[in-house]
Amino acid sequence: MLEITNLRAGYGGINVLWDVSLNFARGQLTTIIGPNGAGKTTLLRAIMGLLPLSQGSVHLNGARLDGTPTWKMADVSMAMIPEGRMVFRDMSVEENLILGAFAPQHRVQVKDNIARSYTMFPRLRERRSQLAGSLSGGEAQMLAMARGLMSDPSLLIIDEPSLGLAPVVVNELFEILTQLKQGGRTIILVEQNTHRAVGVADHVYLMQSGKVALSQAADQVNLDQLHDLYFAR
Ligand SMILES: Nc1ncnc2c1ncn2[C@@H]1O[C@H](COP(=O)(O)OP(=O)(O)OP(=O)(O)O)[C@@H](O)[C@H]1O
Ligand SMILES: [Mg+2]
Repeated sequence: MLEITNLRAGYGGINVLWDVSLNFARGQLTTIIGPNGAGKTTLLRAIMGLLPLSQGSVHLNGARLDGTPTWKMADVSMAMIPEGRMVFRDMSVEENLILGAFAPQHRVQVKDNIARSYTMFPRLRERRSQLAGSLSGGEAQMLAMARGLMSDPSLLIIDEPSLGLAPVVVNELFEILTQLKQGGRTIILVEQNTHRAVGVADHVYLMQSGKVALSQAADQVNLDQLHDLYFAR
């Protein structure tokens, strides 16, 4: 569904990603793991058009995607849930959700999509009028996910959703990721929780120092070997 070929990108004069090629198959959950600073978020930014490529290409369903402005990504049924939750703290839960469907074609379905969010995340319904800034970390992550789903994307990109969350909330989160996958969505999941990420994934990429260090079907992954690679310098 999404194909990245020989991509190079970075910040100003500093290159971060070195000729990376990755493939994300339709209906699958692909996880990208790797240590801090490996370039995972940079890769997601490059996919979303937030960073220019200095080399390579991104294709979505066979059509060239790079060069498409970020604000058009919802039109091609892509949504990213960025690192660090990023909810609008001074707005209510429901207002945050409505903002996830700002494009005219999604506004028509706002009511249905809000109802669907509340079914998937019952706690958000209870907190619908509460300011997002007063949510717990876990609730804020659920809100960020629900907002990302408001445009009903077929490709969902999620950056480190479990970071800093308590184990029970992490369980809930992975349960929801499984549901989303079963619902037919294609998911790209960046995670540092290797064990959980591999458990839910179909395919695994390990990134290190801006390169793809491993590409393997999730059921072929040996976690011990993966950890050895992960911590190798
Ligand atoms: N805005 C920026 N300007 C300059 N350099 C940046 C910027 N953002 C990230 N970098 C650098 O790019 C490299 C890759 O960072 P990136 O955020 O992509 O890593 P990551 O794999 O997402 O790490 P983490 O797991 O900590 O989120 C790092 O060396 C980082 O310092
Ligand atoms: Mg990151």
